[in-house]
Amino acid sequence: MNNWKHITTNEYDWDLFGDKHGRETSKVRTFYEGNQFIWEASLKPNYVAESHWHPYDIVQIFLEGEFICEGEGSFYKGDIRWVKAGQSTIEGAGSEGSRFYLIALGGDIPLMWDDLYKVPEKLENQLKLRGNPVGNANIDKVPFIPFKDENGRPTQPVQVICDESPYVVRTTFEPGYTASDHWHKYDTMYFIMDGEMSFSEDEPIYKKGDIRVVKGGYSYGPEKPGKDGVTFILISNGGPIDLNWSDIKKPPIM
Ligand SMILES: [Fe+2]
Repeated sequence: MNNWKHITTNEYDWDLFGDKHGRETSKVRTFYEGNQFIWEASLKPNYVAESHWHPYDIVQIFLEGEFICEGEGSFYKGDIRWVKAGQSTIEGAGSEGSRFYLIALGGDIPLMWDDLYKVPEKLENQLKLRGNPVGNANIDKVPFIPFKDENGRPTQPVQVICDESPYVVRTTFEPGYTASDHWHKYDTMYFIMDGEMSFSEDEPIYKKGDIRVVKGGYSYGPEKPGKDGVTFILISNGGPIDLNWSDIKKPPIM
């Protein structure tokens, strides 16, 4: 993989999610395939996916409509939900359909229908040791807290969406804030939800609706929001968001 990828989501075409059993699925567009897979899914009104599971943790960032999960409730624009590997769920769309980003942490995610595929015992046992199998955040209810930097450099407050695995935060950079050259330990995804952001002079400006994937260990900077600031959701694949300043700790990828 390149060290980074700029994804302009509206340039991607829609396709039908392939199910080898020919069951009804939904429209998807594929943005990224690698250590993490990133799609956008669009469920038609009142679509229901019968009980199924995935072999990797997934995260959903809701963009439009209503998404309904049995036993969990409804999710709307701005909400975030995650399901850990091996957990079975029944879910679908409300009367207006539902559109969301779907991220799989680790690889591709076939739909594993429970009536056809039993969850492997190993995965089932792992899941039991991982606390809540599903979780979610209503974005308006999560407080902003300071992001502590061990070197005392200025940072911007974050909303901690999930601080186990998966690792998800949301943050707003005020206009004028700058983060100098740094690298993250794990592959990191940025979903630009509002405003604009520059990650370095080597990359284009990222706008609302764009997604950035950057390889763990690759140094870049400075990070600078546009004149109206930027709000983004960040997902770290493999461990906590480990922020290292490149002038203090040499980046693994030069
Ligand atoms: Fe960063």
